[in-house]
Order: sequence, then C-alpha cells, then structure tokens
Amino acid sequence: MTGELNWGDGEYERTARTLEPVAEVVLDAADIAPGECLLDVACGTGNGALAGARRGARAVGVDPAEALVEIARERARASGREARFIVGDAVALPVADAAFDAVVSVFGVIFAPDADRAAAELLRAMRPGGRVVLTSWVPDGPISAIGRALFSALPTPAAPLPRWGDPDWSRELLTRHGAATVEVGEHGLPFTAASAEAWFGEQEAHHPVWRFGRQQLTEERWGALRKESVSLLSEANEDPGAFRTTSRYLVVTARRDEPSRASG
Ligand SMILES: C[S@@+](CC[C@H](N)C(=O)[O-])C[C@H]1O[C@@H](n2cnc3c(N)ncnc32)[C@H](O)[C@@H]1O
Repeated sequence: MTGELNWGDGEYERTARTLEPVAEVVLDAADIAPGECLLDVACGTGNGALAGARRGARAVGVDPAEALVEIARERARASGREARFIVGDAVALPVADAAFDAVVSVFGVIFAPDADRAAAELLRAMRPGGRVVLTSWVPDGPISAIGRALFSALPTPAAPLPRWGDPDWSRELLTRHGAATVEVGEHGLPFTAASAEAWFGEQEAHHPVWRFGRQQLTEERWGALRKESVSLLSEANEDPGAFRTTSRYLVVTARRDEPSRASG
C-alpha cells in the first residue's frame, strides 16, 4: 500500500461495524481476564480495545489515523468504558517493553509494510507468558481477488501486502522474533448486502481503500474495475435472494515463555 492512503478518509467506521464479531473471536483467543492489560494495534475505531474493556481489561489502542482514533475515543466516552487511544504506528509502538498481557490486532498490523519491524514490536510490547493474537484474510475468495485487482490497477501498482494470510509465513516470522509457540486457526466472516452491486457501491462510497483507488484511476479504468469486481462478487454469491460472501481469515496466536520456563 502506498503512503497516500489515508484510513481517515471516507467512513471506515461503517466497515468497522461489520468486523466487530472478529474482535470478539480475537479476545476469546487471547483469553482476556478482568484487570489484564490489553493493547489493540491498528485499532481503527477501537473495536478490539473496546471489546476488551467490556471484558474488564485495561485497554489501550494505537492507530496512525487520527480521525479513527478520535472516533474510538468518542465511542469509549459514549460507552462509559475506560480505554485509552494513542496515535502511533505498528512499527514504532508508543508503549513500554513487556507492558501488556495481551497484544491483539484485528486486520490491522497486516497493513504495515515492514512486517519484520511490526512483528518485533508486537512481541516487544507483550510480557513473557503473554499472548499476541492477530487476524489476517486468507488470500482466496472474491474480496481478496478484487482487492488484488485494485492494487494492480493503480498507476503506481502498490506493493503486495506482507503474507500474514499464509500460516507458515506467519509462524516463521513470529518465531524469529521470539514467539515460543504459534497456533493458527481459521474462521469465516459473512459480508452481506442487497446485491453484489450494492456491496461494491458501499465500498466505493465509504471505504478508504476503495476511495483511494477511485481517486487514482481514470473514470474509464475505474468503470472497468468496477464491472470486473461486481462480476467476481456475483459469481461467488452465496445467497440467491440477495448478496452474501463469506471471507475466511486466520487467527494467529503467539506466546512467549514465562521467565522461569525460558531460563530453565
Ligand atoms: C482494516 S482496518 C482495521 C481497524 C480495526 N482493527 C478494526 O477491527 O476495525 C486497518 C487499520 O490499520 C491501520 N494501519 C494501517 N497501517 C498501519 C501501520 N503502519 N501501523 C498501525 N496501523 C496501521 C489503519 O489506520 C486502519 O485503522
């Protein structure tokens, strides 16, 4: 992804609402207990941190998009939950070493181009005996396919995202940065709309990535991409009466040894 993409453009919060069930799956995997310290990396509008706060965690969220951080703060205020949100990047987390029992990232850290530094930061922020839980889309299915079509259509084609959706790649990366164990599970998230056309229309109007793409392309090129995307979505439609596609994603859980085990 190029530097010009601004996740605060459009209304990412609309997409974030559809991802809320994934934040719950991630917190189940992180096995958050009341009073534990939770860090939500690339928190966007705060889904992970706020779900953790609802479970009694002391939650902190970090994201570079100031507009999204402001929405997260407002959501915390409105819910009466204690959660702190900081503007910052996954490759230089503004937090102390080993400060968190759990570090989570819901389709977030996967967007940091320097995956090595991001992985090192996730593990640095986690205390020994803690856990990192992140999600990444599996690179099949129509939504991944249309995302790749968009990236390659850009005048300066965007570099492919790091391969977090490949279990072996993720295991190797996290192990190299100090994880003692890495478990990978697979889940599905349904996206629904009145039609494939309506689903795409929502993205082009409100989603920062699709809005960015549209700004980069000529009307003609955008029209062709739109047609190709709606056709791919229609072919994969699971609901004859409307539109539904289930996107598969990995839940990757990494742990570090407790000091006693590490030294023994
Ligand atoms: C698909 S959204 C996910 C947001 C949130 N975790 C959720 O579940 O709704 C991707 C997020 O990654 C953030 N992001 C992109 N690049 C990042 C980076 N280098 N460091 C930290 N966050 C980043 C974006 O600002 C955006 O909020």
